[in-house]
Amino acid sequence: MEVIIQSNPEAAADLVARIVARELHANPHLVLGLATGRTMERVYQGLVAKHREQQLDFSLCSTFNLDEYVGLPSSNPNSYRHYMDQHLFRHVNIDPRNTHLPNGVAEDLERECELYERAIQRFGGIDLQLLGIGKAGHIGFNEPLSALRSRTRVKALTPITLAQNAALFGGEEKVPRRAITMGVGTILECRRCVLLATGADKAEILARAVEGPISGMISATALQLHPRCTVVVDEAAASKLTEVEYYRWIFENEPEWREFRTPQQPGQ
Ligand code: F6R
Repeated sequence: MEVIIQSNPEAAADLVARIVARELHANPHLVLGLATGRTMERVYQGLVAKHREQQLDFSLCSTFNLDEYVGLPSSNPNSYRHYMDQHLFRHVNIDPRNTHLPNGVAEDLERECELYERAIQRFGGIDLQLLGIGKAGHIGFNEPLSALRSRTRVKALTPITLAQNAALFGGEEKVPRRAITMGVGTILECRRCVLLATGADKAEILARAVEGPISGMISATALQLHPRCTVVVDEAAASKLTEVEYYRWIFENEPEWREFRTPQQPGQ
């Protein structure tokens, strides 16, 4: 795992967008794993800007989202399909047939989960998975006590997650109680993952996820097992980490990060 600390939420999201753009340039057939949530909005703004200003090409790329609420059709403004259309898909040249989210209104949810896993396999697995982190330490909707080898399945949301997402639904009681989510095991199979966390309210859980012991109670700790996981944070989210000097040294000195150390110039 490596931790990259940026000065503010904009810079952190911009770095993530640059990582995605670089991977997409290197492999136009990229299979991209996507997350929703407030933190990711800036990343998608960055990718849309790169598409408009630098012709970043999504035409051959495919996407798989982490999760979808059970019971919300794609027409519902709170569905994650709607979120993705709003924030990314309709603004770039991606083929809608190559965009995948679990169907939260499938008649047979168990079958839907199996089919989702199979579809990921059919596309050759996920090359780059974007992740946020919930206040309960979830990645996707892998709530506390998610098995570290879990696969795509229906998961009941914890009170912490219901509270976290209440504002978007106009009250906690309106948040769906269940979601289909890729499992922790599904996520760990991606070739590379990038987790973005910003803001002081993520500092505590982020420190436990990165520097604490691996535990099914905090599914993000499973990322410590991943061979190629980058955690990008702003100063506020980094404020409870203990090894910050070491993390900063790596970003400032390792050749891998050279091109990301200077702000991107227009047209780059
Ligand atoms: C959403 C998802 C969640 C969010 C997490 C952070 O698809 O998978 O794990 O990434 O809840 O959400 P925000 O960014 O709204 O704090």
